[in-house]
Amino acid sequence: MTKRLTKAVIPAAGLGTRFLPATKAMPKEMLPVVDKPAIQYVVEEAVRAGLTDVLMITGRNKSALENHFDQVPELQQILEEKGDQKRLEAVEFSSELADMHYVRQGDPRGLGHAVLRSKLHVGNNPFAVLLGDDIIDDRDVLLDTMIAAHGKYGATIIALMEVPREMTDHYGIATVEATADDGIVKVLDLVEKPDPADAPSTLAVIGRYVLQPGVFNVLEVTEAGKGGEIQLTDALRRMAIEEIDGGVYGVIFRGRRYDTGDKLGYIKAIVSLALARPELRAELHEWLEDPANRTA
Ligand code: G1P
Repeated sequence: MTKRLTKAVIPAAGLGTRFLPATKAMPKEMLPVVDKPAIQYVVEEAVRAGLTDVLMITGRNKSALENHFDQVPELQQILEEKGDQKRLEAVEFSSELADMHYVRQGDPRGLGHAVLRSKLHVGNNPFAVLLGDDIIDDRDVLLDTMIAAHGKYGATIIALMEVPREMTDHYGIATVEATADDGIVKVLDLVEKPDPADAPSTLAVIGRYVLQPGVFNVLEVTEAGKGGEIQLTDALRRMAIEEIDGGVYGVIFRGRRYDTGDKLGYIKAIVSLALARPELRAELHEWLEDPANRTA
């Protein structure tokens, strides 16, 4: 029987150089998307899927992350005295959301290295990895489907999404074959960020993984790959090819994903998620539709 999943690992040690100078003194994960830091959407998604034990892999300059998911007694007291129940609840919500843990990555040697840093906390259990740059719209289901697939296949499960061919060099790209389950494929091979001309497909790995604990042994011997970094994709490639710890399967996601990792994606995330808010929707829509606002 496969073990129940309770743990989520969220790598958050990146330097956020694409957003300088905004990220000079603040982690990129704290950039607001409407009224919540981007990272809170990701933690909320983990908790919705039942993963209440959250380990963040952080780095220098990341104390704001820990503070965000902690109590702020002075602020809570002021809001309480003012009788501002709504904001008090919003402040308390993020500190009570999950059982948060933190470990520093140390040397930033890539995503594979960041995930390996969770070994002690995770132990011999399957666990989810959620990348902070990717926000999955909460109206669409992904993690629940992946967890169910993990239960059925007893294997590592990755999330895959069709991307335009010119974008393959931004993603891990998979070679797959169909299974009897609609929307679930067997992963035969993976390659990290291939040039569009060399990409074996246009099925991209997006930032959600349910990993078998066998990944740790593989990561320990995975050498630096693309960009001189230890790539999670390279470890998963080996697990897929050698069928380690059940091999690797993919869940095809056809919902809404926002990539807050670059400026344009971040702006799109804000607009899309603001349009999903009943209190902002109508006026923002009107503003966007008005040609007078598009003449800059
Ligand atoms: C990472 C992974 C890549 C994956 C992507 C999803 O890349 O290395 O395989 O497709 O996340 O967002 P990054 O975006 O951190 O460069």
